[in-house]
Amino acid sequence: MDTLQKFSRTTIALHWLVAASIIGLIALGIYMVETESWHLYDIHKSIGLLAFVAILARLAWRWRNGLPQPVRPVSRLEHVTAVAAHVVLLILTVVLPLSGMLYSGASGHGFGIFGWEIFPSHHSGDQAVPLSAQWSDIGQTMHGFLGYLLLTLIVLHAAAALKHHVIDKDATLKRMLGRAPE
Ligand code: HEM
Ligand code: HEM
Repeated sequence: MDTLQKFSRTTIALHWLVAASIIGLIALGIYMVETESWHLYDIHKSIGLLAFVAILARLAWRWRNGLPQPVRPVSRLEHVTAVAAHVVLLILTVVLPLSGMLYSGASGHGFGIFGWEIFPSHHSGDQAVPLSAQWSDIGQTMHGFLGYLLLTLIVLHAAAALKHHVIDKDATLKRMLGRAPE
């Protein structure tokens, strides 16, 4: 269980596993779309689906543990902002991969994990045939928009963590790095 001084190994492992996968997936996603590197799409979907499993595990863990309590007394406004930011981050980590699945499924491209098909593709010759052009558009727009929104929030979130470390000189970042005092 998490305490004020120390986070459990599960909290720390899940935070950094999900953080690293999401930062990598955002970079890969933007790169493959900008450069039209079609061969990277299956890799992005496969890692995204594996990350989704870790994301759900993390959500269940947070549900049981609650969100972190501040390491030192903070104003009510600061606490409410931190809780709201963490809740939004958690929600986006769930909705983003779901929107990717919606787009890939509805557009007829399908998705799976490294060759293991989870949602079949729908083709006529070489062309993907959408199961629903409308849902495909909604999924694509959501996935792009929410991806950039999440990127912005992650930058603010990491800046907040650094502010705690450098300006406030408190143990917020150290606690998430597993370096808080015993
Ligand atoms: C360089 C990147 C990152 C740094 C330095 C960082 C740092 C931290 C720190 C220090 C905390 C503890 C806050 C507290 O004690 O109140 C925290 C919590 C949290 N972080 Fe990050 N983080 C990073 C990336 C991410 C990413 C990519 C996500 C997800 C999109 C994320 C989501 C969360 C959430 C939801 C919490 C609440 C506690 C938890 O669920 O474990 N973080 N982060
Ligand atoms: C947490 C996991 C994920 C993150 C952070 C993520 C992030 C991104 C980002 C930032 C882009 C670029 C969007 C753009 O430039 O318009 C992208 C594109 C894409 N992602 Fe994901 N993604 C995730 C999971 C998934 C999953 C699970 C799937 C499907 C099973 C998926 C399918 C796609 C597809 C097909 C594109 C190309 C969209 C287009 O051509 O407009 N993603 N992703």
